[in-house]
Amino acid sequence: AAVTEFRIAAIPADGIGREVVAAGRAVLDALQAGGGFSIAWEEFPWGSDYYAEHGVMMPEDGLAALEGFDAIYFGAVGWPTVPDHVSLWGLRLRICQGFDQWANVRPVQFLPGIESPLRKADEAALDWVVVRENSEGEYAGLGGRNLASRGRGGEIAVQSALFTEVGCERIMRFAFDLARTRTRRKVASVTKSNAQQYGMVLWDDVFRRVAADYPDVETERVLVDAMAAKFVLHPEDLSVVVASNLNADILSDLGSALAGSLGLAASANLNPERRFPSMFEPVHGSAPDIAGRGAANPVGAIGSAAMMLEHLGRREEAARVAAAVEAVTARGVRTRDVGGTASTDEVTAAVVAELGV
Ligand code: NAI
Ligand code: MG
Repeated sequence: AAVTEFRIAAIPADGIGREVVAAGRAVLDALQAGGGFSIAWEEFPWGSDYYAEHGVMMPEDGLAALEGFDAIYFGAVGWPTVPDHVSLWGLRLRICQGFDQWANVRPVQFLPGIESPLRKADEAALDWVVVRENSEGEYAGLGGRNLASRGRGGEIAVQSALFTEVGCERIMRFAFDLARTRTRRKVASVTKSNAQQYGMVLWDDVFRRVAADYPDVETERVLVDAMAAKFVLHPEDLSVVVASNLNADILSDLGSALAGSLGLAASANLNPERRFPSMFEPVHGSAPDIAGRGAANPVGAIGSAAMMLEHLGRREEAARVAAAVEAVTARGVRTRDVGGTASTDEVTAAVVAELGV
């Protein structure tokens, strides 16, 4: 039979993004050697170094260059030489918004052998997924800064959140459809409609309307501050958590910290209609504090590679990668952030060996 070839654009970008993308690529390359599919990689040198040379994070026609790929595999963007809002908007948000990757799926998985600061993690099997609205909300980029008009010390800035009925509805339907594939059929909507009386009230209204179409799925509406507490106190009560762009960004870092480290968390930025390539990346940033030392935990990036395989229809291989990671953490091969002594490369090599290809 003909071997399926996937064309994947790799954008390692900055800091440990480079180290963990190399790790994920090593795992996928090992897997493709086992047959069934092959990957044609193309790497793009965009990021903060590119900015130093060209004054932009990615070229003007960058999106056009990416458009023909089956998927994008992303590291992390951000480096002390470039203001964070410039690097984030200039690369990652440009791709997410330009390719209408409106659903950001962020599973929180508790891995064997990795100690969680959460007491409950010893007794309950914890497994939930944060579904992040990824196209509007607080990251719509609406607002402005008035530097001068009120004189020295009087500067003002407005940062508005944009909520549309269409944007709310599609992410909520996505969350309900996802809940139907899980053992626990439940969607919790994260809101703040007590304080944010326009956008979040629309969010709540749409949630109520969409929920009516899914009578077989349990629902819950939780204020974001209460949800932060619930992540810690009653994580066993969570399955799918749907939240706006900013709220989900914060909650998914909390979730991955509870699982043991920010370095463990995987993420998919999906264009569910498949009109554009989707992008897969670890949740963490470029970690300048540990970059270049082989200390980065590659598990989040490898998990993101598994999500990419699943998106490409390679469910069986995705499950093999996930099982290999679990076997490796259970054996105690761990980076320093989760109490081990192994390097990025050692963990990666252990995962590759576990795949047995
Ligand atoms: P960060 O996620 O880079 O690091 C936070 C802390 O977690 C650090 O102490 C770091 O050492 C640790 N950490 C993160 N990933 C790890 C891994 N794989 N293994 C071991 N330890 C890990 O967040 P921070 O420090 O707030 O931001 C650093 C830069 O990254 C900034 O420029 C920021 O804008 C950018 N950033 C980019 C993101 C993206 O590209 N998706 C997401 C978050 C931040
Ligand atoms: Mg984040």
